[in-house]
Amino acid sequence: MTVTAIYGMHWGDEGKGKIIDLIAPEYKIVVRFAGGDNAGHTVVNELGETALHLIPSGIFTNALCVLGNGMVINPYSLNNEMNKLKNKGVDFSDRLYVSERAHLILPYYIDIEEQLDKKLGVGTTKKGIGIAYMFKAQRTGIRVCDVEDPDTFRKRVKIHSDQYNLDLNPDEVLDNTAQVLGEIKKDTKVIDTVPFFRDYSSADILVEGAQGLLLGIDSGTFPYVTSSDPSPNYANAGCLGLPAIDKTVGIMKGPYVTRVGHGPFPTELGTEKDLEGVKKGEEELTEKDIELMSSGDSTATGKYLRITGWEYGATTGRPRRCGFLDLVASKYSKAVARPDAIVLTKMDVGDELPEIPICTAYGLDGNVVTDFPAKISDLERCVPIYDKRIQGWLEPTRGMTDYDKLPGSTRELIRFLGNELAPVEMISTGRERNKYIDMGLL
Ligand code: IMP
Repeated sequence: MTVTAIYGMHWGDEGKGKIIDLIAPEYKIVVRFAGGDNAGHTVVNELGETALHLIPSGIFTNALCVLGNGMVINPYSLNNEMNKLKNKGVDFSDRLYVSERAHLILPYYIDIEEQLDKKLGVGTTKKGIGIAYMFKAQRTGIRVCDVEDPDTFRKRVKIHSDQYNLDLNPDEVLDNTAQVLGEIKKDTKVIDTVPFFRDYSSADILVEGAQGLLLGIDSGTFPYVTSSDPSPNYANAGCLGLPAIDKTVGIMKGPYVTRVGHGPFPTELGTEKDLEGVKKGEEELTEKDIELMSSGDSTATGKYLRITGWEYGATTGRPRRCGFLDLVASKYSKAVARPDAIVLTKMDVGDELPEIPICTAYGLDGNVVTDFPAKISDLERCVPIYDKRIQGWLEPTRGMTDYDKLPGSTRELIRFLGNELAPVEMISTGRERNKYIDMGLL
């Protein structure tokens, strides 16, 4: 029996979906333990491109897929996602499981979040994630099993309605929720995960992280975070009964880092202002951009990475902010989640970068800082110190499957990150499923 956990080392969108899809066939069970449909895992396989938000990427194999109690589940989104998969011919009717203890996201949570984020300015995915976790902490959250307890359900809706002056009709909310859950239950099993894992005590299990550690409610750049703990540390609480994790694998992009939404990002290339009006699929890279990038222009470099790496949110379509590698953040992530190995994705996106600068420390008010600051105003003032620079390889690595054929400086980058963080067990060299170099992960 092996329990392997995959987690995003930075601010999410590290390319976990592809890696999970690749290794899932080795596992009997794939579980998610935190977050909700704010996540977006894009899987590219023989069925084309599929963006998954709630259902683990293991759904494309024969794995049993479990949505754990630490997740917050919008039943309407889950139903849509199930229908999308069914339309693609994916049969999962006897292998999709939902924890009865998972909290639900109801439509009015999204309205509450919209009002709150107008004041707070986190730039959420507008999926009601934070409100579901807030109600959970407030002890008025509504779980999957609570639908079978109408008095409890209605009482909690009434509390929310009074708290936010929403004029909700608890009976109506209950009827609608029961109806959509009824649809879902036709093709899923609502379970207590404790006996479930007892029954599968010798199974190999893959634990699928969502988002990234720097977005964690405890470990992230608070308050510019999501409201769950995406680190594998939370897996056993977010999926009750899950056996102890044997191996943790951190996923990060090889040549750069990204972030969506607001919040400090010390190695950002250009500024958030550059992204105003930018729409997914509508940008083009010009010769002028490449020329500017060659002369070190950071806005042009950010644009190159965004377009070449297709850095647009899978859930919201928002353009992602791009930045150079940040070892201060990566080492913090390593210290918190203790990965046994790492996977470097999107290596080919670096093919045209003239140089790969790596931030090794921050300058903060005249001091050199190597610990990731907690105070948001400190992090906002941090200036990256690029003490390590690797020459760009400036030749195509896209689709390469042989480590020895990689350019020397690509190998130098892999060795460097391997020494600083954890052994590199896979390199991804393209979007498609078969574009990777296995160095021990499979
Ligand atoms: P929320 O999770 O919708 O509350 O959003 C809080 C912050 O987390 C925002 O900055 C989002 O852009 C970010 N976020 C949430 N989920 C993801 C993800 O899957 N990838 C990247 N960023 C995310």
